[in-house]
Amino acid sequence: MKGIVLAGGSGTRLYPITVALSKQLVPVYDKPMIYYPVSTLMLAGIREILIISTPVDLPQIERLLGDGKQWGVSFSYAVQDHPDGLAQAFVIGRQFIGDDDVCLILGDNIFYGQGFTGMMLDAVKNAADGHATIFGYPVSDPRRFGVVTLDADGNPVEIVEKPEEPHSDKAVVGLYFYPKGVADIAANVRRSQRGEYEITSVNEEYLKRRLLKVKCFGRGFAWLDTGTVGSLIDASNFVEAIERRQGILISAPEEVAFRRGFITDAQLLSLAQPLSRTDYGQYLIRLANGKAF
Ligand code: G1P
Repeated sequence: MKGIVLAGGSGTRLYPITVALSKQLVPVYDKPMIYYPVSTLMLAGIREILIISTPVDLPQIERLLGDGKQWGVSFSYAVQDHPDGLAQAFVIGRQFIGDDDVCLILGDNIFYGQGFTGMMLDAVKNAADGHATIFGYPVSDPRRFGVVTLDADGNPVEIVEKPEEPHSDKAVVGLYFYPKGVADIAANVRRSQRGEYEITSVNEEYLKRRLLKVKCFGRGFAWLDTGTVGSLIDASNFVEAIERRQGILISAPEEVAFRRGFITDAQLLSLAQPLSRTDYGQYLIRLANGKAF
């Protein structure tokens, strides 16, 4: 399975912070925002990753992430000229995806909670069996999101983009797993009323074909978005609270690479050395020396 991080958009809701800086490079506590979605893909075992961003932001992101070898993965880069919708990611990434299954994650989505990796690995299996998997998360204002409604058995019956009168409280999060062939479906999507190629239209097609699975996160799970200064600060505070209390790092790609066996302890140590003046680097050094739990 391949992975795509869609890190487009002009970040106007974070102005003036993002006038000269890509939104996905803004810090969320101790690391750039894009580390979180990249780590999520790596946790799912995905090692071939396409980063899509604006022509202006892409070089900055590439400077941060490089070719991925340092983390035992491979990054490719592609431009989205206009933020015309999430479904466009598959059309832009068609060649990269080739004949593979693919996972799309939004560049500003942060996930944290027990059992998450297992849920993603189930979704990877579903894709190999020809099914798409999306995730539902209960929110207080579903009208801001794609909303999925389930029947009594947990099967999806309806999925609507930003409904005025939502039929459920389950927002569809920015993490989607698809079987091969999603680019063909995305290429046939028509623009929505707000003028975008909606990921919801792609999901509706899988629903129509009875190939859509929905997994729901429980109340102990954190799905954070980072679109506004308020939510950005909330996300930073959340990450800080957990990291300091437990003495861990959340979504550090170096750690995921090491724990997943993409890199050795010696490689981890050399990644950690330049960061040694930070708690982040010190944690990685302990990890490489077998002194972190
Ligand atoms: C997009 C999707 C929406 C989804 C949301 C998750 O919304 O269109 O279905 O629930 O991401 O963050 P947008 O950010 O484009 O408003």
